[in-house]
Formats: sequence, structure tokens, C-alpha cells
Amino acid sequence: MKGVGKFGEVMAGEKARADYATATEKLLRIIRSRSQQKAVLDFVVRELRRFPHYNWVGVYVVEGEELALRAWNGPAATPHMRIPIGQGICGLAARTRETVVVGDVSKDPRYLECFPSTRSEIVVPIVRDGTAIGEIDIDSDRVDAFDDEDQSFLERIAEELVEIL
Ligand code: SME
Repeated sequence: MKGVGKFGEVMAGEKARADYATATEKLLRIIRSRSQQKAVLDFVVRELRRFPHYNWVGVYVVEGEELALRAWNGPAATPHMRIPIGQGICGLAARTRETVVVGDVSKDPRYLECFPSTRSEIVVPIVRDGTAIGEIDIDSDRVDAFDDEDQSFLERIAEELVEIL
């Protein structure tokens, strides 16, 4: 059983690496497809949700002093359809224009709860000419779900989304 477990872990690791590359390719293709913005964003959130540790995925856009949810995919709707830029992890990422990773949301007083099952969160700003115009927000039911690979993958996607927001 030990051998099987080890084999399984190695396979899972390899699969995860392959999936980031495949997902990047697929996402860039659709983002560059010149399809309607809403259709592209719906595709992006649906595609991102295929990663097993991405339990809820949303794209917010900046509208004045607020973030407005433009597309999402997950088991339930969030009560936070609009978030003031002064609030939450989402607001923080928009204000600092830096990715924010919260490994354990129960320990971060800045966190705004959407789902009781969420344990960790990553918010990646979409920045055009030094200004945040939106962000990708992902909740995970696992503690410490997001590592450097998730961050650089999502930052690559965010960079591309600049072109369509
Ligand atoms: N948790 C976020 C709010 C958005 S929901 O996760 C969808 C925050 O702290 O800003």
C-alpha cells in the first residue's frame, strides 16, 4: 500500500504540472479569441474550476470604488456581488495591486466570508498601466491550497485578461 501511495503521489504531482501548462495554453487561446467578453470570462472561470483545489472561482471588475462580480463558477453564489475596495482580501489586492494569498482564512481578520467551507484564498489583481481594473478570486476548501505555481499561473492569466476587460 505504501508503494501504491507513493506512486499515486508522484503521478498526481506530474499530472498537476502538466495541467498548469495545458490550462494556460487553453485559456490563452480563448482569451485571445476575440469572443464576447462575458463568454470568455465564463469560460475562464469554468476552466479554472477544473483544478481540484479551486473550489470557487470569480472574476471581479473595478467599478468606481467597488469590485463587481462579472463571472463566477462554484457550488454556490456568493453574497458578495459587490465589494467596496476598502474591504476584504479582494479590496486589499485591488489597493496594493499585488497578489494576496491567505493560507488560513480563519486567522486573517481582513477576510470577508463567502462560504463556511473556505479555508484558503488567493486574489490576483488584473492591472493595466499601474491601476487595478479587476481581479481573479479563488477560494479553496483546503488550508494552504495555493503555492508559487498557482500564483504564477494565475498572474499569467490575469496579465492576459487585461486585454479584454
Ligand atoms: N473572501 C473575499 C470575498 C469574496 S468571496 O470569497 C467570493 C474577501 O475577503 O475579500
